[in-house]
Amino acid sequence: MELFIPYLVLAIIALVCVPFIIYGVFAMKSAAPFVPAMKKNVKKMIKEANIQSDETVMDLGSGDGRIVRMAAPYAKESIGIEINPVLYHLSRFLHLFSRKKNITYLRKNLWKVSLAEVDVLFLFFISTKMPKLKEKIMKEMKPGSRVVSHTFSFPDWKPEKKHGIVSVYRVE
Ligand SMILES: C[S@@+](CC[C@H](N)C(=O)[O-])C[C@H]1O[C@@H](n2cnc3c(N)ncnc32)[C@H](O)[C@@H]1O
Repeated sequence: MELFIPYLVLAIIALVCVPFIIYGVFAMKSAAPFVPAMKKNVKKMIKEANIQSDETVMDLGSGDGRIVRMAAPYAKESIGIEINPVLYHLSRFLHLFSRKKNITYLRKNLWKVSLAEVDVLFLFFISTKMPKLKEKIMKEMKPGSRVVSHTFSFPDWKPEKKHGIVSVYRVE
């Protein structure tokens, strides 16, 4: 018993610290930090996206998965792409409390994910990467698909509509 308690304390400390360390390592490596969108802004993004029931939506850099979960009732399929394993597992854990069957979370680097089948792409990324993201979108997304960006805009691309910090772009 005397030995058991220190080991138990050590095990608890390790259980708490390890996810923080993994999170920190991946956060340093990823291009954009995790800053969750406020729920009222996610609602605005979803409204402005005008999602149809036969459409596939994707959040590139999905953080804790809130956009994916909140958009799922309006879409055929709702997909989250997240590089950080801690955030990916947090999304999957939070998904346990949702009854939606049309949600998929993938732990992937967004630069390696195809956007060919995506009708609505949600983004809350970082200003310095918007030119590179635009190139990827133009190369991969089909005409008529939309991109809904939180805060950041694309260079030389006029949004179809803008509502506060939410801009909607249409791929021609
Ligand atoms: C500003 S947060 C937005 C989170 C979420 N979309 C939201 O609006 O609440 C950006 C997210 O992108 C993720 N990220 C950064 N680089 C990434 C990459 N190369 N591939 C996938 N996700 C990435 C970060 O880990 C972070 O969770």
